[in-house]
Amino acid sequence: MGKVPATAVVILAVTLSVCQGARLPPPTTTTPMPLPTLLPSRPTTVTAAEEPPSLAPPVCPDSTSTTSPLARLRVAMRNSSFTQMNAFFDAFLVFFSDEHLSEEPSAEERRLEYISGWEGAGTAAVLADGGAAIWVPSGDVTRAIATLTCAWQVFDADDPNQQPIAEWIAERLNRRGRVGGDARLTSYTDWQTLSTSLQQLGLQMMHVPTLLDQLWTEEPDPSRRRPDFSKIVANLHHGEYTGMSWRDKVSAVREDLHAMGADAMVVTALDEVAWLLNIRGRDLPYAPLLKAFVVVSAREVRVYAPPGKLSMPVREALAVYNCYTNNCTRVNDYTNIYADLRRATESKILIPASGTFQRGASAAIAQSVPQNKRLFLLSPIIYLKAQKNEAEANGMRKAHLRDAVAMCTLLNYLEKQNKATMSEISVALTVDMTRETQAGYVGAAMKTRVAFGPSGSDPDYRATPHSNRRVFTNSTLIIRSGGQYDEGTTVVTRTVHYGVPTKEVRRGYTIVLRAVAALATLQAPSSLPAAHADPVARTPLWAAKQDYVHPTGHGVGAALNRREDPVVIDYRQDVNLHTFREGYYVTSEPAWYEPKFGVRLGNVLEVISKSSMYIGFREATLIPFEPKLIERNMLTDYEIHWLNAYNDRIRKIVGPELKDQGLTDVYMWMMNKTNRIEPLATAKKQTSSSATNNRALELSCAMVGLLLYLYQRSGLLAM
Ligand SMILES: *[C@@H]1O[C@H](CO)[C@@H](O)[C@H](O)[C@H]1NC(C)=O
Ligand SMILES: *[C@@H]1O[C@H](CO)[C@@H](O)[C@H](O)[C@H]1NC(C)=O
Ligand SMILES: *[C@@H]1O[C@H](CO)[C@@H](O)[C@H](O)[C@H]1NC(C)=O
Repeated sequence: MGKVPATAVVILAVTLSVCQGARLPPPTTTTPMPLPTLLPSRPTTVTAAEEPPSLAPPVCPDSTSTTSPLARLRVAMRNSSFTQMNAFFDAFLVFFSDEHLSEEPSAEERRLEYISGWEGAGTAAVLADGGAAIWVPSGDVTRAIATLTCAWQVFDADDPNQQPIAEWIAERLNRRGRVGGDARLTSYTDWQTLSTSLQQLGLQMMHVPTLLDQLWTEEPDPSRRRPDFSKIVANLHHGEYTGMSWRDKVSAVREDLHAMGADAMVVTALDEVAWLLNIRGRDLPYAPLLKAFVVVSAREVRVYAPPGKLSMPVREALAVYNCYTNNCTRVNDYTNIYADLRRATESKILIPASGTFQRGASAAIAQSVPQNKRLFLLSPIIYLKAQKNEAEANGMRKAHLRDAVAMCTLLNYLEKQNKATMSEISVALTVDMTRETQAGYVGAAMKTRVAFGPSGSDPDYRATPHSNRRVFTNSTLIIRSGGQYDEGTTVVTRTVHYGVPTKEVRRGYTIVLRAVAALATLQAPSSLPAAHADPVARTPLWAAKQDYVHPTGHGVGAALNRREDPVVIDYRQDVNLHTFREGYYVTSEPAWYEPKFGVRLGNVLEVISKSSMYIGFREATLIPFEPKLIERNMLTDYEIHWLNAYNDRIRKIVGPELKDQGLTDVYMWMMNKTNRIEPLATAKKQTSSSATNNRALELSCAMVGLLLYLYQRSGLLAM
């Protein structure tokens, strides 16, 4: 770990040369501190080579400002009224998520964004004496560099050749000092890994739960101050959609816990809490969840929720009053969870380990459980929740029907719009407004992402006012979005084109469509791990020497998260090899990325049982593909049959609903987009028979010619 790889050196040097001021302490510092030590030869040599001599040293007001959140954090790290202990910190880590490690934390949990301005996932390290860096996922590096000010160095967290957090800190602190961070906001595994590496480098890591929150709450600039927690109460999710009482769910969990050798578990993931208790809240931006913890033991069910967040019907349903048995719930204050775990009387407590999207329990939760009681295992709720029962499956179908109406309405509307007025952001707003017209709509299931032309070449593209492109008629438009409805969750991606597509675009689209068809028609042994099904989807792309960096698919929740464990369809996965089960919902989202344009299609598939040993899929998403972009000659008969059958289902299922909602023009549009395609075999027979006729004609013409020639030669026709 001591040697720093070459790429890191170059990246460090480049960022340093662009951002010289960042690592220097503000010139006005009252207590002079030694300069953070960098590897001695690197910055000078490489910086000199990288920096054109004519360029004046860049000014970086952000790194020397005294009022920015970054500067205030540096002061707080050395101020005992913030640290609330006798310790000062030389470095501080800022994590992205909330106490449940949610994928999309709510506004009042976005500490990383407050400190850095970066709204995506990542981890930041801030040095008290100046210097700040952030580690973001691979796909976000370019955007992070463009977003963050010169006070920040940006690293690719997924690239093992780049400097890791611990080394970066140790190098600058001269391998001496103390690092603080909030252990409630990162996973146990990540915390342990970081803490161990820091220790090996001579640094000590400490849990500091309140420093950053206090700083944010006391922020003098009201526009930046920490928003209030949502006061919207959680409501019951009705039996019509759940198909199972919370008591039966608790019994099922207890049974699993018993089999796993635990007598209790901490439920930390918010979608698990909502599923288990049959409640839905409004605390997260893209999922109907309540911020709460639950502890399930053989004797009790304890709910930890902020006061006043459970509606009366919920309190009644959960039997929270005078609870002394194991079939009612005790409600405690949200913040009591840590202290309660410390004095838990159970002997083995399951602490959720991290899965794929669900990151498991936080370090603070895990560390609150006495060491000899900890049992790190995947939460059994993952599997119970993923396998939708009949009521949930019905709900999903209803949600997808409404979503199909919304999407058909949208696509028809956009097609007829004056393109001169359309931009990526205006289209995204139209998508959200169109979904709102559907009954039972709760909110978006993800931030709607619209990409036109070259924007579509970036799988992680998110339009910002700065990058917002106008929509022209000469390239593809990708629309990725999803909806939360009372009954279920949807997510869908379609690619459209408003002009005459080139052959290159049609080829890309058709290959992606073939990938969609390949997975949808797969029938496989039920023992097949989902990750191993990925090559089936990718074969059409691989044949064209193309691939995409993201998974093909993942689980989808029922009125829960749009991305849920356990399955992920990604050939790069070599852990978490879970199989499909009947009742799972998964996405299928293959894509084709070119520098000038992109194509991405995404459907949700329901996993169905084909026999006792085999599974297959049925499309839950019922939204037409774009006929104009399909190169029929590239499809096999098998694929054409699949497409025709899919289109038939859209007509049969979505058609009546469009008529019922009085959307006649949308109905006409849908009918036109779902026209039957003639299978190739029939078409070929026709062409080949006409070809035979042609050849016979040519042949007879040639023979006539030959005869004429012979007659001429022989003089018989000399007239
Ligand atoms: C809960 O348990 C108590 C005592 O064991 C019992 O009297 C009551 O009927 C149970 N309630 C339900 C809803 O199962
Ligand atoms: C599409 O049209 C716009 C406006 O005419 C033009 O700026 C752009 O370069 C064109 N893109 C392609 C790929 O032809
Ligand atoms: C039907 O689709 C074709 C192309 O697929 C298009 O040319 C035609 O204008 C459409 N008709 C209507 C009524 O939308």
